[in-house]
Amino acid sequence: MNTLTQNTPATGQDTFPINGTDHIEFYVGNAKQAAMYYQAAWGYKLIAYKGPETGCRDKVSYVLRQGKITLVLTAALSPEHEVARHAALHGDGVKVLALWVDDAEKAFHTAVERGAEAAMEPKVLEDEHGVVKLSAIKTYGETWHTFVERKDYHGAFMPGFEARESVYPVKPVGLKYVDHCVGNVELGAMNKWVQFYQEVMGFNLLVTFDDKDISTEYTALMSKVVSNGNGYIKFPINEPAQGKKKSQIEEYLDFYRSAGVQHIAVATDNILETVSQLRRNGVDFLYVPETYYDDVIDRVGEIDEDVKDLKALNILVDRDEEGYLLQIFTKPVQDRPTVFYEIIQRRGARSFGKGNFKALFEAIEREQALRGTL
Ligand code: FE2
Repeated sequence: MNTLTQNTPATGQDTFPINGTDHIEFYVGNAKQAAMYYQAAWGYKLIAYKGPETGCRDKVSYVLRQGKITLVLTAALSPEHEVARHAALHGDGVKVLALWVDDAEKAFHTAVERGAEAAMEPKVLEDEHGVVKLSAIKTYGETWHTFVERKDYHGAFMPGFEARESVYPVKPVGLKYVDHCVGNVELGAMNKWVQFYQEVMGFNLLVTFDDKDISTEYTALMSKVVSNGNGYIKFPINEPAQGKKKSQIEEYLDFYRSAGVQHIAVATDNILETVSQLRRNGVDFLYVPETYYDDVIDRVGEIDEDVKDLKALNILVDRDEEGYLLQIFTKPVQDRPTVFYEIIQRRGARSFGKGNFKALFEAIEREQALRGTL
């Protein structure tokens, strides 16, 4: 069953106002090299840095930006550091999905009163460029939601960071904003986390996919999508379902060693141009067989793009009642088969590409088979 529900709270009031995604922080083994990857392959510009040279003795963070997307790449400088423990256990992965709010203290207290586990008590950071307030709660696995309040802050990122620029001319690839961030949780835990987002953070259940929507010959999964009051934040939550072989969600959980962020979807206004550039820069994408394109127009109707161009770049198309969307998925971006990216261009459609699930999951299974984990 696939149910689209109205994205408005029953009370008509947003009980947990969030302006949008503030940043996404990865804990990695080597932030310097990860920062180079995101600049060279993905066209992000370096905007800020924190490390020993700026007075931070135990870790380094590189802040990268493209469009409205801000990535923070953090690594430890000693094996005893929490960031080193995290990176050793999970591999490189997303630690923080930071949310931009008007009142970080209120967001924290509201969330904790409604049952969230505290991760960081509210604190105020200040430098000559202004004030940033932070607080954080825990979500699935070891992932946190940091609440960031940055009224009138004029520095490069936040106090503690120094402005820093890329040392060579980085070419952006047209990435605009974070469209959605997907979490993989343990078998049986999906509803608990959906309830968490509904009860603690006032999110609405947007859509439900069960194993009849999302199954191939071998594997299956279930997914529910929750969204905040203004609709800017969309978090699909996946859990594995029973299949003949190991599902991609179980593979993720085995390698990440806990629940965590599975993929980050980033939006572009011109997917043909964005994906051409990413491919030239060496980003690898999942392969969908050419036969996918044989009946694509019969399935989705007329589209503005030339199917020949989509086929050449292996871009997928899907349609819903409101329009269509174009999307493509990368292979995992670190050694473990865990986090990957989706590039998405929405042409009216607000859904998630259900018509492509089968082709996509078969593509993932071919990769799993190569890894010996199917
Ligand atoms: Fe997605």
